Amino acid sequence: MPQGFNLNRRNFLRAGAVVGGAVLVGAPVGGSGRWLARAQTSAPPTVDRLAVRVVVDNQHDVIVKSAKVGTVDVQRVGWSLGPNLNKQLHSEFGLGFHLESHRGGETRNYLLDFGASPVAELNNLDILKVDLAAIDALILSHGHFDHFGGLVPFLKRDRAKMRKDLGLYVGGEDTFCYRWVEPPTGPRLSTGVLDRRDLAGANVRIVMAEKPAVIEGHAFTTGAIPRKSFEKAYPTPKVEIGMRDGAGCDASHFSKEEQEGKIVVDKFRNEHATCFNVKDRGLVVISSCGHAGIVNTVKQAQAVSGEKKVHAVMGGFHLTPAPDSYIAQVVQALKEIDPDYLVPMHCSGAGFVRAVQKEMPDKLIVPYTGTRFIFGG
Ligand SMILES: [Fe+2]
Ligand SMILES: [Fe+2]
Repeated sequence: MPQGFNLNRRNFLRAGAVVGGAVLVGAPVGGSGRWLARAQTSAPPTVDRLAVRVVVDNQHDVIVKSAKVGTVDVQRVGWSLGPNLNKQLHSEFGLGFHLESHRGGETRNYLLDFGASPVAELNNLDILKVDLAAIDALILSHGHFDHFGGLVPFLKRDRAKMRKDLGLYVGGEDTFCYRWVEPPTGPRLSTGVLDRRDLAGANVRIVMAEKPAVIEGHAFTTGAIPRKSFEKAYPTPKVEIGMRDGAGCDASHFSKEEQEGKIVVDKFRNEHATCFNVKDRGLVVISSCGHAGIVNTVKQAQAVSGEKKVHAVMGGFHLTPAPDSYIAQVVQALKEIDPDYLVPMHCSGAGFVRAVQKEMPDKLIVPYTGTRFIFGG
């Protein structure tokens, strides 16, 4: 059983202090350049201010103006009007963020997910002028190509500009499995694999954050997300257990039923969310695809941090394929959690946006590729 599955708040909060980020345990595991992040042992720190920049999302609108929405500064980029008018932000079915947090005089920078393709990720990092030398850590939410597709090309182009000791925080071994998609009426199609050899070749240290971990002292991850609500995973995404052609995931991390070589329904056991506790505001929870269920995800962020107040829930909620009755249940559960803001992106779906507009219009903020959200003072 992979680490992180018996997670509860007591495990997370058990006495001890973590200073300056997740504690790395021992030497790389199995010579693969893989490290384990020890479970966080004290409540995660607060930050004074958090800026979330959407580097890649499904859509962009150059006409929408920047505005203050409640307490959140929502900065839009508009047109990129330079000498080359062909140099514009690209949107695609994928997600990628640049996160910048501040506490006192201290700043941390993270890249979370990397879009589906280098076409969007590399182009948009340039247009948005993200300072790559300042990046403290990389985080990947799960092993789907619409989140890691731009990663290896980005490292090939830009690794030399970045700090020497650079970690990629992943939720666990299943991040590296081959993935498939198998619609009920169609053929099974490959959705690729993130090959560890490419990361090793770019001198990026893989950190397995199977349990909640503080990253570089500001951000924290949820670890594996227990499935406690009514939410259900969809049967279409599939995962292949085991190694093949030098890539893939170690079958010993999976159950006997999920045997080596088998292609089974993907449970996304190592999907994790990235979160911040913003002073005087509450949690900002960033779910990238939300396969584990957005309600489960937010509840896990609350449980592991000990912070009940949720300021914003943002990212992909994976409700595009959901029927209206299911969306209504999700909206009701989010109403009970009562976050200040909902920022649905990527795979959240128009049905969910319509339901939030109807039920909680004051909480809805519509994001676009390039939008920058400022939370906190
Ligand atoms: Fe996904
Ligand atoms: Fe996705």
